[in-house]
Order: sequence, then structure tokens, then C-alpha cells
Amino acid sequence: MCGIVGYIGHQGASSILVDGLRSLEYRGYDSAGIALAPGDGSFRITRASGKLVNLQARLDFSDPTPVGIGHTRWATHGRPTEENAHPHRSADGKVVAVHNGIFENYLELREELSKAGHTFVSETDTECFPVLVSHLMSEGRDFAMAFREALGRVRGIYALACLHADDPSRILVGRSGPPLIIGIGEGENFLASDVVPLLKYTRRVIYLEDGDLAELRAEGVRIFRQDGSEVTREVHTIPYDPVSAEKGRFKHFMQKEIFEQPLAISNTLLNRLPIDGETLPLELPYTDEELRGFKRIVILACGTSRHAGLVGQFYIEHIARLSTEVDYGSEYRYREPVVEPGTLAIGITQSGETADTLAALKEAASRGARTLAICNVQGSTATRTAEAVLLTHAGPEIGVASTKAFTTQLAVLLLLAIRLGDARGTLDPALRAELLQGLRELPAVMERAVNQEKTLIKWAHRWQEARDFLYLARGPLYPIALEGALKLKEISYIHAEGYPAGEMKHGPIALIDQHLPIVAVMPRDEHREKTLSNLQEAAAREGRILALVTEGDTGLAGIAEDTLEMPEVHPWLAPILYSVPLQLLAYHIAVLRGCDVDQPRNLAKSVTVE
Ligand code: G6P
Repeated sequence: MCGIVGYIGHQGASSILVDGLRSLEYRGYDSAGIALAPGDGSFRITRASGKLVNLQARLDFSDPTPVGIGHTRWATHGRPTEENAHPHRSADGKVVAVHNGIFENYLELREELSKAGHTFVSETDTECFPVLVSHLMSEGRDFAMAFREALGRVRGIYALACLHADDPSRILVGRSGPPLIIGIGEGENFLASDVVPLLKYTRRVIYLEDGDLAELRAEGVRIFRQDGSEVTREVHTIPYDPVSAEKGRFKHFMQKEIFEQPLAISNTLLNRLPIDGETLPLELPYTDEELRGFKRIVILACGTSRHAGLVGQFYIEHIARLSTEVDYGSEYRYREPVVEPGTLAIGITQSGETADTLAALKEAASRGARTLAICNVQGSTATRTAEAVLLTHAGPEIGVASTKAFTTQLAVLLLLAIRLGDARGTLDPALRAELLQGLRELPAVMERAVNQEKTLIKWAHRWQEARDFLYLARGPLYPIALEGALKLKEISYIHAEGYPAGEMKHGPIALIDQHLPIVAVMPRDEHREKTLSNLQEAAAREGRILALVTEGDTGLAGIAEDTLEMPEVHPWLAPILYSVPLQLLAYHIAVLRGCDVDQPRNLAKSVTVE
């Protein structure tokens, strides 16, 4: 986490840096800072704890200095104070650096540098870097050489940008792990942790690779490897519309992103639905024979993306009859996984940068699995390291709590299951036709779901004071219960649990009393009767039931306190549809409770540390 920006060119850097940090605030927001190099042998460093607005209030935007670096922090080492905010500088004040990642050997380096007479003023791991660069320069190396050597001395992961007060014509950067992207302008160049901040200025970007170092000057960019050899990297042109990264008429990005779901789904399905009996045109590099050769699927993901994976397990097992397991990115590699020949490991990650998911995919690959990434960010590490990629075309997702990225992941997983089912001959043609028709109609049905916002605002008013929530569902909707609970706790800080409805009696039933709202997701499907029995058990214990049901289902009268009728869809599409009201409920409860919806406390959107 943490976001990095840099600018070198002909305009005043401070407003460009702060603008960039604003788009990166989702990566961390407990403190922020910038350093400008005016070329008089010193730096203008401004830092502030708390949100970016605190930094903004301290800045002089009329400063014409055209070179600088900036950072927004998600604390790992050291509290979120101003002293620990980046940029950090060397004790002689000549070198500053911003860093995303962790230096694992910082204590050793600190000790060594302290013995050599250097002093430290922060609790961070980052500070050792500018101090080390300055130390190496005091031994006679120039800035670039000292920077390169310092990178060779640190252990861990980093995206780094570094400036020297006496050499303001270049920014030196390095990447090993967290993403770092260079934006190519005319007589100016930009740096950022993702593409969104760059879009306002340029669509031409270079994704640095692991082990790359770069030198940004106003007039050009050069890229090197650790051994000093120069390399060229492809310049990509980004198709995003910059407007899609703005809030528009909505109060929060999360609300906007919930409402964008019909469009996000339709973009994700574009050119991927076949006409009649055609093969599904899904851009997979596997032949039918290879698809038939897969014996087992393992899905690896974290957070919301893992919940998508749990739905995917239902899709793939049911439609393609392939045994599928789902694991946490953070657990998989530590359990000595058994990877049989014919395993396809699918990493699901919105950002494509989640360290745990990337490491799990790497582990699977090292044990012989083929790898596929389902990802929303083209050019991210996941898309560049997996053997195959299926993009979700949700557009940039800024709100920390994932919404449209999640439902588009579900759509891609369903397409993948159909593609596998086609190749393996396990998909009944009638079911196939129903699913494809359902997918074609899905954007319109999603539109109806987002338009139920008013009812969910009413629910939010009524239940905003609850201390706990329980979410229940069965079958492919049980992961949606988990996701509904996760959304609520992430943004409203209300404790919530999601459970398969049948599991309720094995523990959570002890929590039920007249104060506990129970959100039941129960469309008219093969599980409805069983879920209804579970709800009767809950109602008998005075649980307060809020039910999401299919239009015209009146069977909950006398049991549910509130009922929301949802459009009728095929049961395999219900997970996508029923996510929407749960997102809206969480969103409005959080708004009523005065929470910071887009940037909930302690969370970060892209978790690039273990
Ligand atoms: C963080 C975010 C979650 C997200 C998870 C996985 O924890 O706060 O919202 O689901 O990372 O992110 P990914 O980018 O891999 O989908």
C-alpha cells in the first residue's frame, strides 16, 4: 500500500503531486507528504499526518518548482505521525525518498549507519534508504551509483523514488514488488503507483518491471537493470476515459461504482457472448484439448475476490464438473499444497497487485500448475506474470470496498465455467442457452437492482444502530452472504457475520435475540425451502429477519420484518444480482453513521505487503 507520485518538467510540481496523491489515497491515507527540489541545494518538504487535506492546507501551490516526489502512507513500521510520514531524508538534508513496501533488513542497516555516525529521526524502515544513499555518496560515489548500490543493499520489496538536492534535473526510481508506472509527457514525465493519476496528463505509460531502475528527466526517461545495463520497455497506451475516475453526481466513489455495475457488466461481457451455437469467444490461450486436460482447479484470492472465487467454485463444479478448491492467498503457500498434474491455478485480484495472491499463484506455478489471472487492471503484476489473463472491464475502482470489480469477477467466472463446460462436454445445451440469455439480459436486470436504492435507504435508517448483523444464504449465494457481511463491517464498522444458512444452527444461533438483524438472501431456487426452515428457527428465537426474495414471493409474511423483492433471474445469475442490494445496504448504513465510506479506517485497496 502507500501511493507514490513524482513529477519532473516545466510546471509547478506541487499541484500535480497533490492531484496524483488524491487519486492514490485509496492506497493509504494516514499521512502524506511531498518534497520539491528547487535547485538551491535544499528541499521544500511538507508533510502532515491524517488525510491529504491536511497536507494540502499546508502547501503553497504558487511555488513554481518543477520537480518533486510525493507519498500517501498506510503505516507498516511506525505510527501514522508527521515524523513518520514520507518523504524521508538523510541527516545532511541532501537526499529524500518515498517508498512503498518494506525493507526487511532496515534494523541492520540502521545499526550499521548509526555506527558510522548517521542519525535517524523516524521509526520507519524507509528512512535508512536516503541515509544509506547519502552515506555511499560521502564515500565518493555519484548519486546514480549510490542509488543503485543502496538498492543492492536493501532486502524486501519496494517501489521507490529518490531526489538529490544538488541534482534536481532527475528523479531516480526503483521497483521490486509494488507497482510503479511512468507517464510519458512532452517535456515532462510523471511517476505513480497506478495509472489513474497519470491519465489527466498522458495516456502513454511504461510499467516498470521487477528489478528495474529508472532515471526520469524532463526531456526523457532511461531504464536500467540492477547491473547497470540499459533496457527498453514497451510504451503502452491506456484506453481509460479519465472521467471514469471522477465522482460525478455521486456523493462517494463507492456509490458511483455500485451504480456503474450495469455498464461494468455489459463492458465485461462485450464480445464474449457467442451467437447461437458458436464457441464462447473467451480470450484463453488454451485449445479445447488443453481445457479437457485440466483435472483440477485451485482458486487463490483475498478478501472480496476470494468470495468471488467461492461462487466460481459452484459455477465450475456444476457446469464443467471439474473439482475446484478455493484458498486464501495468505494461507495457500504455507500449507505445502499438493498440486497434481493438470491443475489450473486461478488468481482472482481486482488490483493485480495483492502480495498474498501473487505469492500463492507463484507457489502454484512452482509446483507445476498452469496459471490464469482474473484481474481488473491491465498491465498489473498479475496480468504480467500469469500465463493466461481474463480481464474484468469494470473500469477504475476507487472506493476501497470493492463493488463493481466483484460483480464483474462473477460474470467472468461464469463465462469461464461455460467455456470449460463447452470444451469438456458437460454443459447441457438447454442450460447453456438459458445462461447465455440470462447474461445478455443481466445489465438491464442490474439496472433494476440499483434502482431499488430507496428501499435500502429505508432499511438503513431502521437498522443503522444495530450492533451486529448476521447474513445467511445457501448454495452459490452463501458467498454473497459472506460478502454482504464483509461490506458492512468494512465501511460501517458494525460487526457482521456471513454464514451458510444451514450452518446457523451450529453456533451462530446462540447469538440470536430480538436485537439481531438477520439478512437472508433467498431467491426462488432449489434452496429456498431449506433456507425458509432456517429462518423459522431464527424467528422462533426472536431474530429480526430482513429477506431478499424473488418478485412475487409472499411466503415470508409473518416471518420477515422487511422484504425486498428482486427481479427473477436464473439461479446462477442470482449471486451477481443479489450483491447489489447488500452493497447499497452497507453503503447507506455507513453514510448514516457518518463513516468515511471511500476510505474506511485501517484498510487499503491494494495490499502489497504480506
Ligand atoms: C484489500 C481490500 C479488499 C480486497 C482485497 C483483495 O484487503 O481492502 O477490498 O478485496 O484487498 O484485493 P484484490 O485487488 O486482490 O482483489
